Amino acid sequence: MTWLMITILIRTIVCAFPAAQAYKLVELTHSLSPSTLFWPGVPSFNRSLVVASVNQHGVWFEIGKFSVGEHGGTHIDVPRHFKQGAADLNDFPLDRTIAEGVMIDCSAEAAKNYNYAVTTNKLKEWEKKNGRIPDGAAVLVNFGYTAKFSNHQAFLNTKNVRDDKTFRFPFVTAQAALWLLNERKMKIIGVDVPSPDSPQDKSYPVHVALLLKNVMIMEMMNIPKSLPARGFRVHCAPIRIVDGTGVQTRIYAMMGDNIDAGSARLCMQSPVFFVASLVVASAVVDILTGGRIRG
Ligand SMILES: *[C@@H]1O[C@H](CO)[C@@H](O)[C@H](O)[C@H]1NC(C)=O
Repeated sequence: MTWLMITILIRTIVCAFPAAQAYKLVELTHSLSPSTLFWPGVPSFNRSLVVASVNQHGVWFEIGKFSVGEHGGTHIDVPRHFKQGAADLNDFPLDRTIAEGVMIDCSAEAAKNYNYAVTTNKLKEWEKKNGRIPDGAAVLVNFGYTAKFSNHQAFLNTKNVRDDKTFRFPFVTAQAALWLLNERKMKIIGVDVPSPDSPQDKSYPVHVALLLKNVMIMEMMNIPKSLPARGFRVHCAPIRIVDGTGVQTRIYAMMGDNIDAGSARLCMQSPVFFVASLVVASAVVDILTGGRIRG
């Protein structure tokens, strides 16, 4: 009896410990305000107060309201954006909002050429260095544009931020997007520029190919220089707007929590661990009882 109790106690303590390990959260979202960049023709963010006063009981009470175009600032796209009747924000599957992340650093290339385009070769080079892109990943393409976000002219490489024909920024080729879709079953693509498509290509090949396969697109992301090439998970939780085609969304990465409650449970059930605990428990009992129980 004592043996069993000590065994269970040891397993509980040891298995619970890694579950309590600290994890780290990384912000991947820019803040949203009236000065946030929106594409010309898409209404920008506007918030106003509805109530802001002390009520009859002396309690402060504040409510605002806001209106905003669905595509601007850090936001996500769902299939309805590029296909009539396709999945909207209400129908978009919840399991496609979380995925193991990889960060493809293209900031050196994009710094030299604002028309830089990610090719399949670039992705294969990344894999040579960092290992295979896991199936079903969130692939974040970092063009090094995060720091330019608040400077609309620099972000769009134009003097005229009202004329989208003049916009230039790096993008992802349709070939690379299709490779990620077909060969790596990519779940999410994210970019720190306004779009994974070239601003000059109104056939939107990347949007069309990906959204029709339920791949979520994240745009104008805030990708910090500290984000590693892999070893994190991307999370977001877009609100369930009926008929919505996209929405400003809090996106973040989580890392260091790979030993979660699920693996703690596996740890408890592991036969190797059971035997090891039994051995330790028997030693403890031996010491405590001076060998009387074993005898
Ligand atoms: C913002 O919303 C308020 C309240 O609805 C409205 O009066 C104002 O005209 C709006 N501003 C813009 C720039 O749309």
